[in-house]
Amino acid sequence: MKHSGVEDWQDAGFALYVHWPFCAAKCPYCDFNSHVARQIDHDRWRAAYVSEIRRWAERTPGRVLRSIFFGGGTPSLMDPETVNAVIETAFDVWTPANDIEITLEANPTSVEIGKFRAFSDAGVNRVSLGVQALDDDALRLLGRMHDVDQAMRAWDVANEVFARTSLDLIYARQFQTAEQWRDELSRALTLGVSHLSLYQLTIEDGTAFGDRYKIGKLPGLPSEDRGADLWDITQELCIKAGLPAYEVSNHAKPGAESRHNLVYWNYGDYVGIGPGAHGRVNENGQRLATVAASSPHAWLASVEAEKPAVEETALHPSDQAGELLMMGLRLSDGVDLSRYERLNEAPLRVEAVRQLTDLGFLRIANGKVAATDAGRPILNSLLRELL
Ligand SMILES: C[S@@+](CC[C@H](N)C(=O)[O-])C[C@H]1O[C@@H](n2cnc3c(N)ncnc32)[C@H](O)[C@@H]1O
Ligand code: SF4
Repeated sequence: MKHSGVEDWQDAGFALYVHWPFCAAKCPYCDFNSHVARQIDHDRWRAAYVSEIRRWAERTPGRVLRSIFFGGGTPSLMDPETVNAVIETAFDVWTPANDIEITLEANPTSVEIGKFRAFSDAGVNRVSLGVQALDDDALRLLGRMHDVDQAMRAWDVANEVFARTSLDLIYARQFQTAEQWRDELSRALTLGVSHLSLYQLTIEDGTAFGDRYKIGKLPGLPSEDRGADLWDITQELCIKAGLPAYEVSNHAKPGAESRHNLVYWNYGDYVGIGPGAHGRVNENGQRLATVAASSPHAWLASVEAEKPAVEETALHPSDQAGELLMMGLRLSDGVDLSRYERLNEAPLRVEAVRQLTDLGFLRIANGKVAATDAGRPILNSLLRELL
């Protein structure tokens, strides 16, 4: 039976996410699905990605592809030939949008800088560079394999080679003062950036930092108050530089927003391939949540055996409405209320909305509900009240 949410994804478009699960070393703060491998058989990985794209294309015929995103792990360690094969296959099975965005996440070491031109030749037109800090001591504390000079060289080459670039920084780090962050972010904003991802350091279970934190051996982390000050400085400087937040942690000049991430946050459809990749795919009137096996070995073996280890769950429209709200409230623009109501077959909880609006955490305008500047840092609490 088809229901009211049947073609809801069309509001936001269709994208492909490709997960590359390997890194040269594991950073102590990172809980992404990333692994250090002694040997990687690039031919096998290439064939597996191509086979997964072809399989998903049979289930999503006739789609217009708005974006491809190579995420990781460290996709800049991929063989450019693999990146090329993924893009060629995707263009073969779907129709690329005229302005398709093709992003690759890169680490700023010399190994990767030398590959930028080959990635560009393969069709990548946007790079997201993991600079993380503009301070050598901080980079050492974060366990990074590059220093600031190397990161700046990578940034310069990236801007020569790619039409669009973005830079990632982590703040609220150990021992970081408000003044230091003000200086560091001000410097980043002089680098000609049009897109910045600015993440507060989170301490995750199962990471080296998580283990050290548990035994009290991770000194100098900011208190909640100092974290809030750092957040305020971030908003202030980015607004002044013409890169306001369009999402909780993402800042861009108007028009430089990541089209790929907008597909997620506007709750469009996306095929996710590679270990641990998630997807949301509309098929025959059903919206499926998909998640691939996270172990690189298990994923590769299952694809090669033509039994891909991907779990699929059909989402009830009310679950989709919840996801739409969770994703959309991250955006400064907010969520279309009529779209929410169509999926949920009921409006948002009126009393909760009224209270949160009165408290200044939510704003309703032009048929949309959005978190205010005060509401965005406490999004999880808002969602608990609303759902
Ligand atoms: C998939 S990761 C890394 C991409 C690339 N491998 C790199 O390290 O630059 C994407 C981003 O998440 C951020 N990140 C990862 N773990 C984090 C943590 N525990 N706290 C804050 N930001 C984190 C980093 O800024 C990183 O650039
Ligand atoms: S932060 Fe990047 S390089 Fe470091 S382990 Fe995570 S994915 Fe790999």
